[in-house]
Amino acid sequence: MAKIELKNLKKYFGNVKAVDDVSLNINDGEFVVFLGPSGCGKTTTLLMLAGIYKPTSGEILFDDQLVNEVPPKDREIGMVFQSYALYPHMTLYENIAFPLLAKKMPKDIIDKKIRDVTKNLDIGKLLDRKPNQISGGQQQRVAIARALVKEPKILLFDEPLSNLDAALRAYMRAEIKKLQHDLGITSVYVTHDQVEAMTMADRIAVFNKGKLMQFDTPNNIYNEPKNVFVAKFVGTPSMNILDVEIENLHNRIFIKIEKDILFEIEDENMKNKIEKINTKKVVMGIRPEDIKISFKKENNNSFRSKVYILEPLGREIIYNIKLGNNIFRIISDEKYDLKLEETVYLTFPKIGFHLFDKESGKNLLF
Ligand SMILES: Nc1ncnc2c1ncn2[C@@H]1O[C@H](COP(=O)(O)OP(=O)(O)OP(=O)(O)O)[C@@H](O)[C@H]1O
Ligand SMILES: [Mg+2]
Repeated sequence: MAKIELKNLKKYFGNVKAVDDVSLNINDGEFVVFLGPSGCGKTTTLLMLAGIYKPTSGEILFDDQLVNEVPPKDREIGMVFQSYALYPHMTLYENIAFPLLAKKMPKDIIDKKIRDVTKNLDIGKLLDRKPNQISGGQQQRVAIARALVKEPKILLFDEPLSNLDAALRAYMRAEIKKLQHDLGITSVYVTHDQVEAMTMADRIAVFNKGKLMQFDTPNNIYNEPKNVFVAKFVGTPSMNILDVEIENLHNRIFIKIEKDILFEIEDENMKNKIEKINTKKVVMGIRPEDIKISFKKENNNSFRSKVYILEPLGREIIYNIKLGNNIFRIISDEKYDLKLEETVYLTFPKIGFHLFDKESGKNLLF
């Protein structure tokens, strides 16, 4: 096991700031996911951890030891990529044995290690086959076995499941999580799939344009996003985001959604927080599950709306409801039998929303 520390890590390619001043600490045995859109610097950061890229500046420490100058082969790292990169002419056994043979390890020890590692991965019976005689998911497990057999201190994964179909991906997600939990090897897992990140990670590092946006538990990333980028990137359907204005009228605080649609803040604690915000124009975010649909006006914060479109997903429906000029996407535990253009009411939550700064995107309520 090993803990990892990144200090002000930067990687520039000419004037492209691929990784731009990232600092974070990963604990012994932790499973950390790097999440973010294409091009945000996930792979570049991972390759610096592996020693394949040299940082432009900043420090990488494993167990408090600076490793910036340590070559990849001496970093005790196992890597698993999107392409399994198995040798096609070798059997699975030979593929997995390869890194150990390279180290000139005795055959009987290699044999024992391979039996042990493949038992957990449920590929023990396939070892005589060649890579083209097994499925994609099995190939991915062979690639994992090959990384594990070296008994690395750190495991690095770069989108290992993106070539697999949805069912196999979901299965392998759970398998990798279980395996990592059992082995307790510190792991960094790169993906742009927020579901993968939420389901697998102890903590998620959300990246955007080379910068670290938030590093936190899945729960906090979802419920307490530090900024509008994290808020929008995590969650399906994604958070409803709209421009609003804060209105202060005779000691009452309203969020003006648009002309004549004023949502009053009644919770005292929330009122106090909003009073401290010194800009009027802000961005509001509300999760799809935090707006309530009803057929009658429930209170002063219920607004007359119209059913715009319905998106059935089997287990649930995404209700697209138009209030003024905004279309809100809503999900609910309750099933409503709604018709297009039908009138319904939307009730806003007392505290279940966020306000973000228009310029910086920063969450103003935390
Ligand atoms: N060798 C390189 N030379 C020049 N630019 C590079 C190089 N490698 C990456 N970049 C640039 O650095 C940025 C970050 O790339 P990176 O591969 O880390 O993104 P990523 O987050 O892994 O994206 P994806 O999800 O598409 O794999 C991108 O703008 C990319 O074009
Ligand atoms: Mg990448």
